[in-house]
Amino acid sequence: MREQLQAVLDTAKKEILSTNEPSRLEEIRVQYFGKKGELTQILRGMGKLSAEERPVIGSFANEVREELEALYEKRKDELEEEQLQAQIDEELLDVTLDKRTQRIGHRHPLLKTKEELEDLFVEMGFTVVDGPEIDSVENNFDALNSPKNHPSRDLSDTFYIDAETLLRTQTSTMQIRAMNELGAPLRIVSSGRVFRYDDVDDTHSPMFHQFEGLVVDKGISLANLIETINIFVKELFGEDMQVRYRPHYFPFTEPSTEVDVTCLVCRGEGCPACNNTGWSMELLGAGVVHPNVLRNCGIDPDVYSGFAFGMGIDRIAMVKYGIKDIRLLFENDARFLGQF
Ligand code: DAH
Repeated sequence: MREQLQAVLDTAKKEILSTNEPSRLEEIRVQYFGKKGELTQILRGMGKLSAEERPVIGSFANEVREELEALYEKRKDELEEEQLQAQIDEELLDVTLDKRTQRIGHRHPLLKTKEELEDLFVEMGFTVVDGPEIDSVENNFDALNSPKNHPSRDLSDTFYIDAETLLRTQTSTMQIRAMNELGAPLRIVSSGRVFRYDDVDDTHSPMFHQFEGLVVDKGISLANLIETINIFVKELFGEDMQVRYRPHYFPFTEPSTEVDVTCLVCRGEGCPACNNTGWSMELLGAGVVHPNVLRNCGIDPDVYSGFAFGMGIDRIAMVKYGIKDIRLLFENDARFLGQF
């Protein structure tokens, strides 16, 4: 029996030390210490020993069991430790490792410009409203007091969908919608795409973007328009900007004006970009809302008056970012857009 115990001790020891698998270690435990395990069987057979042999073999058997149990516990701890370490290694997130650089998108220069314009007017108490690109001839021309024979109504200038419907040629449609829906008094800005039958070149596109504003209230005059535009231009381009108002004609305003600002390239000195005038031409169109337009929207021009203005967002973005060709804004070339 002694030899048997010694043999069990030797083989079990080897097996315990050589296993790297917790599941295998468990098998070994069952194989030796389990109910039917080899060691258990031997210990059970102790009863058959003689009275002299029993204490000697008994104490040896205990030694064997204790040694194996200790060995088993130690190996078990080691394997658990190894397993935990492996798991930690595997799950470890190296935050300093720059494996794949994520290319994060950003706002298009047109959207940035639009949002900047909106922010400026929201600060001045305007509300942002939105409207459709497909609108009625009524909203785009008739209600805006446009004469029936106005050249912009021509098929060669405007994209018609049918006799009453078109792709809006100006965001001024939103003046009509806002007055019809909200009534007076109001203070709104609105922006979006407009469409004109234009050939494409470096400053023209059949689709571009406008930004429109309208104020209707009691006692609104040209003075309010001028003050508002002056503040806006200085906020957008800088305190040193000068603003110039030239008389103009728009069907929906009377009087009407086109607004120029100091040339942004030379800041008024005179340079090729401004034909040595020192002025950037036509930043926006504006005027005092024509009484007919108010009347067309159910607002009494004897009680209320207003001013309106409209400008090209594309043009402002081009001036602001020094973009020479409008087509670059619509080609969606990430190499170009990534610069802004
Ligand atoms: N709608 C005009 C255009 O497309 C721009 C404009 C001029 C808008 C005067 C206005 C305004 O609101 O008062 O050329």
